[in-house]
Amino acid sequence: MKVLVITGSPHKNGTTAILAEKFINGATEAGHEVSCFNAAFKNVHPCIACEKCHNTDTGCAFKDDMEELNPKLLEADAIIFISPIYYYAMNAQIKTVIDRFYANDAALHKNKKAALIVTMADDTTESADGAIASFKGMTNFLEWDIAGIITGVACGDVDALNKTDYPEQAYALGKNL
Ligand SMILES: Cc1cc2nc3c(=O)[nH]c(=O)nc-3n(C[C@H](O)[C@H](O)[C@H](O)COP(=O)(O)O)c2cc1C
Repeated sequence: MKVLVITGSPHKNGTTAILAEKFINGATEAGHEVSCFNAAFKNVHPCIACEKCHNTDTGCAFKDDMEELNPKLLEADAIIFISPIYYYAMNAQIKTVIDRFYANDAALHKNKKAALIVTMADDTTESADGAIASFKGMTNFLEWDIAGIITGVACGDVDALNKTDYPEQAYALGKNL
């Protein structure tokens, strides 16, 4: 399968970066072709709802790094969203990318798998409720199958993450996708 990993964190060596690496190791070992788009290090303008993408044949008003992502998005068999929780939601960097899916809504409505991996400092899952609801709504709308959700509680930093089995869970998710 072609697997696309989209990450949101600006921490190159943070908790979600570790989980992304573990997921990619598992998926690569399983023989999948993995590509990665690290939203925090890309130039992606927020959607301004101008409808140019739907009402003209010239596509999105913004010619930015979504042009690099869009072909990968369209051809991916599985899309994995990996984000830290910021204020009870996926972070703005990754949500900005998701909003820009709007330009390809129709083409994205097809058989794909999707998974969500989030980390957060709290030791209960409440902080992830919004991100999970948003992810489930998006996958339902786009008719994608959910391959897994990893809710990484008590992962405020790498030391805390290393006391959990989320790295193993991320590896297994990639391996068994
Ligand atoms: C702006 C901001 C908002 C945050 N909001 C929450 C939150 O609502 N709930 C929570 O449990 N942790 C919250 N955190 C903690 C992060 O989710 C946590 O530190 C995570 O491990 C960061 O992932 P990273 O190392 O991959 O960047 C927040 C952190 C930041 C910087």
